[in-house]
Amino acid sequence: MENPFKYGGVVRGPHFADREDELAELEREMLNLSRVFLVSPRRYGKTCLLFNLMDRLKKRGVATAYLDLNAHPTLKSFAGALTVETSRALETNTDRLIKILSGFQRLRPKVSVAPDGFLSVGAEVLSPEADPLSALLEGLNHAERFAAKKKRRLVVVIDEFSDMAKYDGEVLEKALRSEVQKHQQIGYVMSGSEESVILSMVREQSRAFYKLGRIMELGPIRRDIYSDFVMGWLKRGGYRADLRDLDGIFTLGQDVPQNIQRLCYTMWEVARESKHVTLEVIDKLTEVIVRQDSPHYELLWQMATPAQRSLLMALSSEHTLSPFSREFMLKYSIGPPSSIKASLESLMKKSILYRSSDGAYHFADGFMPYWIGYLRRERPVS
Ligand SMILES: Nc1ncnc2c1ncn2[C@@H]1O[C@H](COP(=O)(O)OP(=O)(O)OP(=O)(O)O)[C@@H](O)[C@H]1O
Ligand SMILES: [Mg+2]
Repeated sequence: MENPFKYGGVVRGPHFADREDELAELEREMLNLSRVFLVSPRRYGKTCLLFNLMDRLKKRGVATAYLDLNAHPTLKSFAGALTVETSRALETNTDRLIKILSGFQRLRPKVSVAPDGFLSVGAEVLSPEADPLSALLEGLNHAERFAAKKKRRLVVVIDEFSDMAKYDGEVLEKALRSEVQKHQQIGYVMSGSEESVILSMVREQSRAFYKLGRIMELGPIRRDIYSDFVMGWLKRGGYRADLRDLDGIFTLGQDVPQNIQRLCYTMWEVARESKHVTLEVIDKLTEVIVRQDSPHYELLWQMATPAQRSLLMALSSEHTLSPFSREFMLKYSIGPPSSIKASLESLMKKSILYRSSDGAYHFADGFMPYWIGYLRRERPVS
């Protein structure tokens, strides 16, 4: 049997664990065409949740369009994609879609033919006559009218929404708000992991998205429910395991779904022969994973300065809200604060560390602290 625990990429259907309450709630909100801001730390499963939501909504006859701001470095490219995706959600016939896109003032349809003859339709913003903001508003306005004409509900999902700031914000945010507010046929989910950025966008009175929609914070998956999911697959694969032992996996993975999936995937492989998940198997998992990923960690390590390495070592031993405290500095022989600050900033820029909304510093890759732990034991001083 194929390994049922998928990690990285979008996980759907029977491979997607739980999130029943969140899915039901989001489904209700979207059937009511509300506006929801979905936030969580990284790798908690927002993107997966959104794809599963769209699968459900499609079954209920709701049209859906998904946009990932990460994929669009410029507003121009986002405006084009938004127009195409919303039009495509409501019109599946390629000829008619091209006709629709030809009707825009600020866009030109772009049709490409793949070697297998498959037609793909895109659009680009005409330049220099059209500014991308007007193109975006034209696209959104069209989506609303088109959905009304088709008598369909439309849900627009904008992932990595906190990236909006890169488009040179304020004018865009205000214009977007006033357009979105007028819509009666479209529900919106805006999702992102830069919690502080999104929360300040929505909660600060001076900002354009102030109270534009409700905030939904995605937490970890409940351990009892997730263990049942894991146990169910193990049984189907003919594995023996004790439900209580599985708890160790959630501790090792700090309840981050991506880590849990990786641990379970590895567990399945390690016990493929014996078909028996024991505590020994579980204890071995992080070592197997960091061994697999060690070329990647080595590279990061080589690029880090001595001060950054010392800080990473300290943070891998202890989670702290205050890396600048005297106690922490003394305990790990790091400092002065100016050097810690510079190291933190650089490591966050390189996406090795990130800061959660409670102010704590975390490793973006939850297994890196284990690798540093093994490193410390093998090469005590670096
Ligand atoms: N409910 C789930 N069931 C199974 N796997 C999940 C679930 N949620 C998340 N995952 C796992 O976590 C990985 C990351 O999920 P996803 O990309 O959806 O997170 P995210 O919150 O969008 O992360 P980011 O903030 O980095 O965009 C997935 O590839 C999958 O392996
Ligand atoms: Mg995501």
